[in-house]
Amino acid sequence: AIPAISQDSKPLRIGTEPTFPPFEMQDKNTGKLTGFDIELLEAIGEELKRPIEWVSLPFDGLIPALQSGSIDAAVSGMTITPERAQTLSFSRPYFKAGLAIAVQESNDSIKSFDDLKGKRIAVQIGTTGASTATAIEGTKVSQFDSAALALQELLNGKVDAVVNDAAVTLYAVKEAGLKGVKVVGEQITEEYYGIALPKNSPLVNDINNALSTLLENGKYEAIFQKWFAG
Ligand code: ARG
Repeated sequence: AIPAISQDSKPLRIGTEPTFPPFEMQDKNTGKLTGFDIELLEAIGEELKRPIEWVSLPFDGLIPALQSGSIDAAVSGMTITPERAQTLSFSRPYFKAGLAIAVQESNDSIKSFDDLKGKRIAVQIGTTGASTATAIEGTKVSQFDSAALALQELLNGKVDAVVNDAAVTLYAVKEAGLKGVKVVGEQITEEYYGIALPKNSPLVNDINNALSTLLENGKYEAIFQKWFAG
């Protein structure tokens, strides 16, 4: 008889929205996924002795895919929120994040959260940036499939600001050479990223244990330094 493949060595199907550098992106030359989240999950896969099968999805498709069971987990710079935690389980937090405001370089009138009242704001669909911008009085919020498209809308002068995860907007400005845009003020929220899983998935414990190991043995730190040093 053909021996059954042990459940434990089956690939982990991991969803991500891969246009969110430096957390997830496609390598320009190889087309392969790379970034902080990608390397962290690959390291978790090694700990669990499970190969990773990556599934690229729109950001607002990740939660439905978790709920239908077509992916086992999602790593996508996803903020742990009380609302999401009603229908999903999250790993322990693995990254401290927060939203930032980006405006055109020439804009001197928007400097803080309060200045966003009544403004036109571009965001990525389904994100905490989208819900935060929508909750501000009088805003007109345009939603895009990626943070890069939201920033492009700002460059084109069609909106006054972009509300997006600070590290991602800063990376676009500093590392990816996006010109004509600046980040203003402090981070306007404090958020923590978690790996998202179907509610009460038995994998939550395994992933938390693997994360603890990587935090203790220095591998988390090495991946962090690679993407965020300097
Ligand atoms: N942290 C934000 C959120 O959870 C944005 C995440 C967007 N991630 C992505 N890969 N596009 O809503």
